Amino acid sequence: MTDCDIGLMGLAVMGQNLVLNMAQNGYRVSVYNRTTSKVDAFVSSDEAKPFAIVGTHSLEALVASLKRPRKVMLMIKSGDAVPTLEDKLYPEAATADAVIEQLIALLEPGDIIIDGGNTHFYDTERRTRWVESKGLLYVGAGVSGGEEGARFGPSMMPGGSLDAWPAVQPIFQAIAAKVGPNGDTPCCEWVGPRGAGHYVKMVHNGIEYGDMQLICEAYIMLKQAAGLTNEELYDVFDSWNQGELQSYLIEISRDIFSVKDPHGDGYLLDNILDTAGAKGTGKWMSQLALDLGVPSTLVTAAVYARGMSGQKQQRLRASQLFSGPDTQFNLDKFGGKAGFIEAVRQALYASKICSYAQGFVQLQAAAKEHDWPLNYGDCALLWRGGCIIRAQFLDRIKEAFDEHPQLENLLLHPYFKDAVASHQAAWREVVIAATQLGIAVPAFTSALNYFDSYRTPYLPANLLQAQRDYFGAHTYHRTDQQGTFHTEWLQVRKQPGN
Ligand code: 6PG
Repeated sequence: MTDCDIGLMGLAVMGQNLVLNMAQNGYRVSVYNRTTSKVDAFVSSDEAKPFAIVGTHSLEALVASLKRPRKVMLMIKSGDAVPTLEDKLYPEAATADAVIEQLIALLEPGDIIIDGGNTHFYDTERRTRWVESKGLLYVGAGVSGGEEGARFGPSMMPGGSLDAWPAVQPIFQAIAAKVGPNGDTPCCEWVGPRGAGHYVKMVHNGIEYGDMQLICEAYIMLKQAAGLTNEELYDVFDSWNQGELQSYLIEISRDIFSVKDPHGDGYLLDNILDTAGAKGTGKWMSQLALDLGVPSTLVTAAVYARGMSGQKQQRLRASQLFSGPDTQFNLDKFGGKAGFIEAVRQALYASKICSYAQGFVQLQAAAKEHDWPLNYGDCALLWRGGCIIRAQFLDRIKEAFDEHPQLENLLLHPYFKDAVASHQAAWREVVIAATQLGIAVPAFTSALNYFDSYRTPYLPANLLQAQRDYFGAHTYHRTDQQGTFHTEWLQVRKQPGN
């Protein structure tokens, strides 16, 4: 039997849901999982049974079940491999490399290997070259939207061997989320060569980190400074979700405020330990921003905020030693509670704009570095539906890049320029209030610092250059003359008594 359109290996929840989505869209899918009992349980489950999904018990059988060009999609989670030392150090990479090696031996020229996991783009760059050198095609596809997205319409960011796209496109665009006026524009488009798709997915995740942290800071300000209850927070987020902040993350946060604890008293949110987890994609974006020398400060602040949250025991001890400022918060400055809520909303929106501006600047720098012809309007469209950062405001970003494909920074576009300018005063007041109250808002602050650094014609880097030249002869440029200069600072410095 060689009639399946696509084969998928890795039947964790994301894998299962992608299979069901493909099957529901009329594709014949075969599946394989290392723990083969999972294959049998899945294909005979109530959800999968109606689709006659083909279960296989080996990679050989999976490959043998496929039409040409064969398409094998990997949805591999760490820990699926037989653990070697390398697996322990770097589990996803080791697992996927081992499977790809096996697949290379089983597939024929023109066949396609697809990696749908959250893979580091370096691995996808390397694997595309490796797999192509064997005459096969490779696709590294970012897939976002969590379990529900995978089942009913994820955002998909494929990149790799362009020749694979005609074969993969119909399936991916059929299962992807749809947006647009007629609801028929798929949130799936070819992103670029080699690791470009996984890079765009990583930036999506970094922006997700920023969005989540900003929302958490808005929450803590409303809760601790203004004393809002969960019921009030629900109403605030509900109204925010009907305006320029409309987004999936605002919507789910709103819903979270309403959930009573099934295992205890009060609201579930209030009984959740305040230490955040992370799987690493935000950290990757931050690390890569440093490599490129671009200031992606929001994701970095968000990663550090998660790190600080993890130091729970130390924080508890420190809280016994230090008290914050002894300040009475006066809402009058904001025109009362409603005025303060609106100020926090504006701080959140302005900070969010900075976060997306940074994400796109990083994408542009990476595209230049790696020679990827990225279309930034398309990137915004891919994130418009299906994914975790889906939001109305991505329409604006798409429009901005469609109008100016080489827009240097979103802050320069009239829509975002006006939005930040009109929200600036409230944004500053919220950061001032947080500082006076001793409430940490690292992402709001970081965004404001980014904005102030970006909009100033004059930074103190002249002194920095002088210091570098003083101690290390690192040279400097002048404002009034061309060329590179060095000064013997010890000789020309002001001597004591002169
Ligand atoms: C998505 C998400 C997903 C990510 C989780 C968890 O787009 O569906 O980005 O890929 O893995 O959000 O990420 P952290 O565990 O790092 O928060």
